[in-house]
Amino acid sequence: QTIYLSDYRPFGYHVDTVHLTFRLHPTQTRVISRIAFRPNTEAPGPFFLHGEDMQLISAKIDGVAVSPEVTDKGLTCTVPDAPFVWEAEVEISPQTNTALEGLYMSNGMYCTQCEAEGFRKITFYPDRPDVMSVFTTRIESDLPVMLSNGNPVDQGDGWAEWHDPWRKPAYLFALVAGDLAAHSGQFTTMSGKDVTLNLYVRPGPDEGKCAFGMEALKRAMRWDEEVYGREYDLDIFNIVAVDDFNAGAMENKGLNIFNSSCVLASPDTSTDANYERIDAIIAHEYFHNWTGNRITCRDWFQLCLKEGLTVFRDQQYTGDQGSHAVKRIEDAIVLRSRQFREDNGPLAHPVRPESFIEINNFYTITVYEKGAELIGMLKRLVGDEAYYKAVDLYFDRHDGEAATIEDWLKVFEDATGRDLTQFKRWYSQAGTPRVTVTDDFKDGTYTLHFKQETPPTPGQEQKEPQVIPIAVGLLSPNGDEVMPTTMLEMTETEQSFSFDGLGAKPVPSILRDFSAPVILERAESNADRAFLMAHDTDPFNKWDAADKLAKSVLRAMIISEASPDQAYLDGVAAILRDDTLDPAFRALCLTLPSEDDLAQALHDAGTTPDPMAIHTAREALKLALAQHLQDTLPRIRAAMTVEGPYSPDAKSAGKRSLGTAALALLSRLDGGAAAQAQFAGADNMTLQLAALSVLLQIGKGDAESAAFRDQWRNDRLVTDKWFGLKVATAAPEDAAAVAEALTREPDFDMKNPNRFRAVFGALAGHSAGFHHPSGAAYDLLGDWISKLDGMNPQTAARMTTAFETWRRYDADRQAKMRAVLHRIAATDGLSPDTAEMVSRILGDA
Ligand code: ARG
Ligand code: ZN
Repeated sequence: QTIYLSDYRPFGYHVDTVHLTFRLHPTQTRVISRIAFRPNTEAPGPFFLHGEDMQLISAKIDGVAVSPEVTDKGLTCTVPDAPFVWEAEVEISPQTNTALEGLYMSNGMYCTQCEAEGFRKITFYPDRPDVMSVFTTRIESDLPVMLSNGNPVDQGDGWAEWHDPWRKPAYLFALVAGDLAAHSGQFTTMSGKDVTLNLYVRPGPDEGKCAFGMEALKRAMRWDEEVYGREYDLDIFNIVAVDDFNAGAMENKGLNIFNSSCVLASPDTSTDANYERIDAIIAHEYFHNWTGNRITCRDWFQLCLKEGLTVFRDQQYTGDQGSHAVKRIEDAIVLRSRQFREDNGPLAHPVRPESFIEINNFYTITVYEKGAELIGMLKRLVGDEAYYKAVDLYFDRHDGEAATIEDWLKVFEDATGRDLTQFKRWYSQAGTPRVTVTDDFKDGTYTLHFKQETPPTPGQEQKEPQVIPIAVGLLSPNGDEVMPTTMLEMTETEQSFSFDGLGAKPVPSILRDFSAPVILERAESNADRAFLMAHDTDPFNKWDAADKLAKSVLRAMIISEASPDQAYLDGVAAILRDDTLDPAFRALCLTLPSEDDLAQALHDAGTTPDPMAIHTAREALKLALAQHLQDTLPRIRAAMTVEGPYSPDAKSAGKRSLGTAALALLSRLDGGAAAQAQFAGADNMTLQLAALSVLLQIGKGDAESAAFRDQWRNDRLVTDKWFGLKVATAAPEDAAAVAEALTREPDFDMKNPNRFRAVFGALAGHSAGFHHPSGAAYDLLGDWISKLDGMNPQTAARMTTAFETWRRYDADRQAKMRAVLHRIAATDGLSPDTAEMVSRILGDA
């Protein structure tokens, strides 16, 4: 059943208070609710309560038993025309809840995931984000730790009670109970209030992996005070780590629940990338307390209101912890590979979608990351000062409300006097705008001509021009900057901008800092790119020039078997040897575009990509780079050695990332000797895993792999890394077989989303392996999606995105992928989640 944004109606009742009692039992948990309803006189409507997968034991209105009409979606009931108290008792079975939505069990602990629509699997309730209420929760069980939202009220033998004073929608409800150990901390807010902080984990080795998360939480709390003036608003803030979790983490009020992979960290078991991600996710969930919880979403079409803004805030935070330039490049890499791929395929949808069948399918990179880009563009367009003024107005005006994108844009209009009608198209038009640039120079005047065009996307044939902030700088032919970064505001389909008083035709640096999520198309020579790579003062465009040049070189190698371009090799060498540049930045410049990005680029240029040829060319360019940089690599490795005990700080991590990039190249020349030595001597996971990965990539490292497997057999998170690495580094022709063999390992557990994704996420991400002409990987993934769907529709549906690019490829691959998609679609009892995804991916094919 399709839900439309245009059908929004407020609920016919207000909910003043909610009291819940949980009598926990693995298969027969009783949930007793007492809910105070009041008719919404401004918008009268039917009394319908959502409810799924539960058994109604009894129901009362104002103390009198009633018999509601119950379906598998919820219930209706005749109710008084005045405020009344609804009471119900239901029974649910957390132990058998493998969908991991609602109340479920993970390794003996009870936990919840209610966003987006999981609360309806807990009790009958108007499960929609615009219904906000004050919740009191009583938990009864003999487990030692019992947690819910808000502040603890009281506890006794076998029970605990929590009260959350802040009105909230049901999707922010949470409950946790188990035998848990707390790693505790304390934070004093800017107005002097003491907050108790706890990070709960299962007793045992995980207790030693909490310290970093706790410090990250404190950093995030301070940062939100300093940068956004936002203070925490309860006496206690709890985080719980859970092994079985569909998403990364969840911002439940006062009780954040995390996938253990996104919170647990130790030097021995976590890489630098893990640390950076954990820091960002802890910040993200914490920042939701204001952007998501205090101000929530009116309906799920407004998801980007909280997610885009909160991602933008966590990106700012991460930039502040290290380098804004490096963070911007990392974010652009993710956006341009995964979001552009989505935006240019059958799953393209606007940042604010207008219809959906299953909302879980819209927790996408478009809503999150493109959503964050829209906030960044707004900030660029209005300027920093006006941005913070508008955001302050947003907090003042909408605190305690369930808001919309219209509300969000209105505070910017009111704070700045700017008309954002055109800007709003960014929220409603899907697809990535193509911006084509040409230029001319006459009598000292340099002119840039821009043309924008957004290709059609499913359901949107025609696109209107969007407002695009284009940051431009100009360099003189000898490499000096003659015009510093200037913000151009493109609003028309075609528009020109002139710069006068120039002595010679300049070299333009366009879309600095990746100022808009668009594809920039310009007829540039490799010499132009090499020039910018050497001279651009904007770090993003310096890196981007290297990336574009690498793409162009690779394309020539793929299409015409050209040999690697000398200008590229020299340019990379110059950057590598430039000690004034941040090591993390240099490492990024050394990283080649991914095989999937190359496939998309070829497809965009009208060539059918051959994943095998792409793989071969990319490997050949790595070897050419290694040979060209031969003398420099050992020196770089030595210079990037980090002394002293492991620390995940940005500076140390940056050195290790450049050291690893150098090792990866060096290993193509030394037969793996340096990597073997690094593996043997590594005293942290970053160096150990990097060494193993490099060895496996060059077809070595069997002994190291076995040793690694053995060493970490009892650590779930490291074992996930090993599963993933085995697939990711398999030869293309072996990838499917390797993945298949891993599913027969005793510790492969399809019920655990992390383990499932370790194998099948890696297979889908192994471009040449996934698209091997045998079709074996397509078949394998298709079979496992069908199998998983019955247990965990949300994760199964997500995995179908592996096939979203099917139209890029040749007829034979297309036919094979289509056949697999049709097979999935024909699965007995297929979930609406996966059914929706498959039908969108297939289109009318
Ligand atoms: N709100 C969570 C976050 O971004 C993610 C929840 C994911 N839920 C889902 N149904 N996919 O922090
Ligand atoms: Zn979020």
